[in-house]
Amino acid sequence: MSKLKITETILRDAHQSLIATRMSTDEMEPILETLDQAGYHALEMWGGATFDTSLRFLNEDPWERLRLIKSKVKNTKLQMLLRGQNLLGYKNYSDDVVDEFVRLSIKNGIDIIRIFDALNDTRNMETSIKACKKYGGHPQGCIAYTRSPVHTNELFVKLAVEIEAMGAESICIKDMAGLLDPYNAYNLVKDIKNAIKIPLELHTHATSGLGSTTYLKAVEAGVDIIDTALSPFGEGTSQPSTEPLVATFQGTEYDTGISLEVLNKAANYFRPLRDKALESGLLDPKVLGVDINALLYQVPGGMLSNLVSQLKVQNAIDKYEDVLNEIPKVREDFGYPPLVTPSSQIIGIQAVLNVLLGERYKMVPKEAKDLARGMYGRPAVPIKEEILKKLIGDDEPISVRPADLLEPELKKAKMEIATYMKKDEDLLTYVLFPQQALEYFKKRKEREKNPENQI
Ligand code: CO
Repeated sequence: MSKLKITETILRDAHQSLIATRMSTDEMEPILETLDQAGYHALEMWGGATFDTSLRFLNEDPWERLRLIKSKVKNTKLQMLLRGQNLLGYKNYSDDVVDEFVRLSIKNGIDIIRIFDALNDTRNMETSIKACKKYGGHPQGCIAYTRSPVHTNELFVKLAVEIEAMGAESICIKDMAGLLDPYNAYNLVKDIKNAIKIPLELHTHATSGLGSTTYLKAVEAGVDIIDTALSPFGEGTSQPSTEPLVATFQGTEYDTGISLEVLNKAANYFRPLRDKALESGLLDPKVLGVDINALLYQVPGGMLSNLVSQLKVQNAIDKYEDVLNEIPKVREDFGYPPLVTPSSQIIGIQAVLNVLLGERYKMVPKEAKDLARGMYGRPAVPIKEEILKKLIGDDEPISVRPADLLEPELKKAKMEIATYMKKDEDLLTYVLFPQQALEYFKKRKEREKNPENQI
């Protein structure tokens, strides 16, 4: 009996995709026990942008959220998203930071760590996979899905086999831009399932309107787990909705065993939060519709809207078409990186510069140079010699794993925040987001001095 399993994303990706990650711990708390009763395989509830936003906008300690959810959710696994050597930030951290972050995540309640690298460079996933195993967690390795002439199913299968060999206990096809269509999903899932022994999960977004049908074909092809979001925060740029998919498979060999009554109870709880977000403008109805630009241009929706605002600022919106045509060429020149943070921004800005300056690579920003030099990792195919010369001039490309160039960071950081540090977790908060952490620690200290002055 190949029962289908469901990972619920409402506590992480769903609100990250629709309302800029603004759901607070207080808003989650009353419904946690209900979510725990539904019969989900896992609740994705931490990592990604949740950590940063908790500190920056919600004035919350992200570790407290994790501990609270763990105390209420006793039966369902807790899952987080981790950007390999970048953890939850935007640069590479040294191995001692990665190891300690993973240790404390698991110690505070994380069961499954979903680990990915924007370039699919497995060297950037190795330290976190190893640490996760060492501390008793379930390391899930990701394939960042993208389309290009070199991203064949053979390449993805090779990647899956490599990730399994590194010690991952499951694999996720992470289709962050909603590019995967039903029949390609069917073939890709079949091919990967034939090559690996560990469970396979599919993560997609409903952005281009394909999400649910893609899941249907992936399930028929044998995918073990799919990611969905309860309907009040489902569809659009979020995941396909949980309830209709659970209903789809009811009574079939894939029956999830999840109770629609319990799901409905949870959905009823979240609906007023959605209404509130629509009213305040935090939830823009535009992101709830279908947008097939990603399919047409292979460019994620967020990148297109960035592009429009950049061109408007430059008074060059008439160059929009030219830039759209330039993006695939720049991407090819850089060895076909998947268009996800940070490569999407780097490629987008470079394409704008190439068009506006009327000459390709006349100006190459530092981030683009770093990408070309291998500072983010290895692209799917090496950059051509003559292009590399144009991009980095006489600078030396690196061939080692980027984090091999970093010194250990923890000891120094510990000295820097000695006066504020109250627990081991504070150190990691500081290393990841120094400025936000310090502000948060200062406020915390104030609150402790004047407990009646709660904010
Ligand atoms: Co996602």
